[in-house]
Amino acid sequence: MNEKLWGGRFSQSTDELVEKFNASIDVDKHLYDSDIEGSIAHVKMMARESIITQDEADSLIAGLGKVKEKIENNEIEFSASLEDIHMHIEDALGKVVGDVAKKLHTGRSRNDQVALDVRIYLKKETKIIIELLAGFQKALVRMAQNHLDVIMPGYTHLQRAQPILFSHHLMAYYEMFKRDIERFKDCLKRIDVMPLGAAALAGTTYPLNREFTREVLAFSKVSDNSIDSVSDRDFVMEFISHASIAMIHFSRLSEELILWSSSEFSFITISDSFTTGSSIMPQKKNPDVAELVRGKTGRVVGNLVTILTLMKSLPMAYNKDMQEDKEPLFDTVDTLKICTDVYTRMFENIKIHKERMVNACALGFLNATDLADYLVSKGLAFRQAHAVAGRAVAYALTKGKELNDLTLEEYKDLSELIEKDVYKFISIHETISRRISYGGTGFDNVKQAVKKAAGALGLK
Ligand code: ARG
Repeated sequence: MNEKLWGGRFSQSTDELVEKFNASIDVDKHLYDSDIEGSIAHVKMMARESIITQDEADSLIAGLGKVKEKIENNEIEFSASLEDIHMHIEDALGKVVGDVAKKLHTGRSRNDQVALDVRIYLKKETKIIIELLAGFQKALVRMAQNHLDVIMPGYTHLQRAQPILFSHHLMAYYEMFKRDIERFKDCLKRIDVMPLGAAALAGTTYPLNREFTREVLAFSKVSDNSIDSVSDRDFVMEFISHASIAMIHFSRLSEELILWSSSEFSFITISDSFTTGSSIMPQKKNPDVAELVRGKTGRVVGNLVTILTLMKSLPMAYNKDMQEDKEPLFDTVDTLKICTDVYTRMFENIKIHKERMVNACALGFLNATDLADYLVSKGLAFRQAHAVAGRAVAYALTKGKELNDLTLEEYKDLSELIEKDVYKFISIHETISRRISYGGTGFDNVKQAVKKAAGALGLK
């Protein structure tokens, strides 16, 4: 009696808990349109192969359209008891078209169905992300075009190193995002594979025409191995990995914008509409957008760790663990999209303080390498020239001077080779215009690079 009472209560509450625990509807409801698109293709294929009649197909297709409408009008209540989006749609279809709905799942398993849905979804989203990233590249190139000859200090170890063009610095980011786009385009080849027809894992006894389904869904190829079809999430791992790298690029840019907008640098001002104030300190204007993007990089990298850990050691073929792939994937897609969007807009709202930038080149011996190059041009070997320039810096420091401030007499004491043409040679403008090696910061180089990028992006 006691045991029965206890057992009854336990089994009751456990069932409810497991039901809740097992359900994925809160997350995978976002796949509803991909799921319906996949089902419609499956139905068309089955009618074509006479697995179902054309009348049945017509009714299923109309019904699926109706279900889509109902979901979009919030007329379908999602509940844990129907577990996931696939069961919800099938259940709703039954309510719309009656018993014929029971034929929809012929020759299909939720295992190949969910693999298809995620691929349909991710194919679309990857294309959108490629467009968004190209949009941000345009913002970078436009800013480079508008500030072509602005000079700033280039840094290594966050110490002033050599003068560079601000536009050259921006174009470094253009290159990073170009690689991101390439990676997403390459990944698209692996996303663009049609897995439906693998069924649970072994294929099916029905005469499915997988090639026809592929064509209806506009996939590039059909998957070759049914076991792999239902267990492969490489494309998800790849996508999140590429997204992590893109976010890391944004985080590096964020860090620079945050530094540059500080009073210490004052290289840029981000407009009021893209900054926020402080509730206590009236003078504050904070670069929240850049900070938040930097912070969100952490969650995308976290998503990568999640998906990699999730897939590690999973035996063939489908395992329920894989249901957990969607949350990190959707979050990554949403995060990368909004970060790219907000950055593109923020870039139109950044003011560049070119005087501050170029003035920052005046202090810190940024032309010391050029003094060494000057001595090389007078016949000294580079190592010896480096030593003389080093002594010049050490001497100038004791006098509180920069290299341009040393008198010719002082230079003569350092090396007889130095003449009065040294001053022009080590001027900031000269240090830039002489850096003509391909890919360097020389004025012409950068102009060409910006022009090429603008052409590639279809900008004027
Ligand atoms: N909700 C499941 C997922 O997202 C769908 C596949 C379920 N398959 C199964 N055999 N229980 O992975």
